[in-house]
Amino acid sequence: MKRIKAIYPGSFDPPTNGHLDLIERGSKIFDELVVAILRNPEKDPLFSVADRRRMLEAMTADYANVSVDTFDGLTVDYALRVDAQALLRGIRAISDYEYELQMALMNRKLQPALETVFMMPAEKYSYLSSRLVREVAQLGGAIAGLVPDLVAQKVREKMDVAHKFEKHVEIDEPSPEKIPSESTSRPRKKKA
Ligand code: PNS
Repeated sequence: MKRIKAIYPGSFDPPTNGHLDLIERGSKIFDELVVAILRNPEKDPLFSVADRRRMLEAMTADYANVSVDTFDGLTVDYALRVDAQALLRGIRAISDYEYELQMALMNRKLQPALETVFMMPAEKYSYLSSRLVREVAQLGGAIAGLVPDLVAQKVREKMDVAHKFEKHVEIDEPSPEKIPSESTSRPRKKKA
């Protein structure tokens, strides 16, 4: 019997409960599912690819037919390399459809044998995206319930480091408006 292997490509920065929901659904209909993290040197990610891989591996540890990998270049070339017949993508709302359709048709043009399969995550995740999780966390909002606990913990650690770094910069390099007008006076260090 033919076994169907699918890839689920994406940035996953960070992986969310919406991604996990889709992975779970995908693992039920495909014999094998590879979560494939794009290594994109042009982006300025919150998490390194290695961090994202570790998080996704921990999140998917209970799914025997799910593995995690990284790739660069064209998604269709990666799919060919790993012998996948299908490409899984999630559609949360109608706003996703245009971009996803465009991508699916371009991928079909490049590699006609590879089928894109769209699945819908649970509606409670329909508003959820990695970009919004990053933004909410960076502005001090709560992300519990939006990402798995282990991801929330990692995001918190990142934010703590970023916060400490910002404080450090503020102490060592005060912004121009904080520098006293007398050009000879040196900025004083803040008390801890
Ligand atoms: O999670 P994202 O950022 O929406 O994922 C987008 C992704 C990685 C699936 C897409 O950018 C992609 O496939 N990039 C690899 C380069 C490629 O194949 N480009 C042509 C797509 S039509």
